[in-house]
Amino acid sequence: MKVVIIGGTGLIGKQLGALLQQGGHAVVAAAPSTGVDTLTGEGLAQALQGAQVVVDVSNSPSFEPAAVLRFFETSTRNITQAAAAARVPHYVALSIVGVDLPPGNGYFHAKVAQERLIRASGLPYSIVRATQFHEFIGAIADSFTRDGVVHAPSAGIQTIASADVARALADTVVAAPINSWREIGGPQPQGIDALLREVLATKGDPREVRTDDHASYFGAPLQAGTLLPGPGAWIAPTTWQAWAAARAIAA
Ligand SMILES: NC(=O)c1ccc[n+]([C@@H]2O[C@H](COP(=O)([O-])OP(=O)(O)OC[C@H]3O[C@@H](n4cnc5c(N)ncnc54)[C@H](OP(=O)(O)O)[C@@H]3O)[C@@H](O)[C@H]2O)c1
Repeated sequence: MKVVIIGGTGLIGKQLGALLQQGGHAVVAAAPSTGVDTLTGEGLAQALQGAQVVVDVSNSPSFEPAAVLRFFETSTRNITQAAAAARVPHYVALSIVGVDLPPGNGYFHAKVAQERLIRASGLPYSIVRATQFHEFIGAIADSFTRDGVVHAPSAGIQTIASADVARALADTVVAAPINSWREIGGPQPQGIDALLREVLATKGDPREVRTDDHASYFGAPLQAGTLLPGPGAWIAPTTWQAWAAARAIAA
């Protein structure tokens, strides 16, 4: 199968490409650095020629709300139009668990717009909604930090290793389109405050973590279960402790 990975040079895209190649598939890693720009459309039609699946795991270079909305709206319009023209029979995209719940989170708002455009495109599709990556925990801690103190809510989080996300996407690529979304999450639900306390202590990061249930998550208030996968989600095996230990050994 020919699979085009939009964002194929990124954290998820690289791992997904390697898994698909191991499975004998022809992979095109599409990104500005390989001559494909989904904002301008450059290189897109050529990359998608003869593809059986297009997977979008790209990300906006800026997380500023207006910029990220522009990124996902423009790129999704361009990819869906090019995929329709090339008659690509399966469109796979990576989204986020709970993305449609909290109003006020500009990044989530842009991902909802991305999902809406995919659904409206008429293309057969599968959306995989993942929880936050273990790799993203540091950024979450930083986002809650004020004057050296982490003010984090006790709302639940269930982080997942990016390698497990890539595995679930590889399985989705070789399956039939579901024309819906499915959820995937890590193995351990816990409070954001408790997770950050443990992770910072493990890393020897001296920041204190104070529980603050009014702290907003990238601009949005969280309910206890907003970021948690629902019943029927695929639960990935790798805990953040195992992931961190493997990174420490590799470093
Ligand atoms: N972080 C999380 O916890 C989390 C949770 C759930 C879902 N997700 C989703 O996971 C997806 C992938 O995230 P990631 O961390 O793997 O991203 P990443 O490492 O930042 O990679 C982004 C990719 O997008 C490409 N890209 C940027 N601008 C582009 C453009 N104009 N045209 C084509 N490609 C472009 C980049 O190409 P270059 O290398 O050329 O710059 C790179 O390959 C995102 O959509 C995100 O919403 C993330």
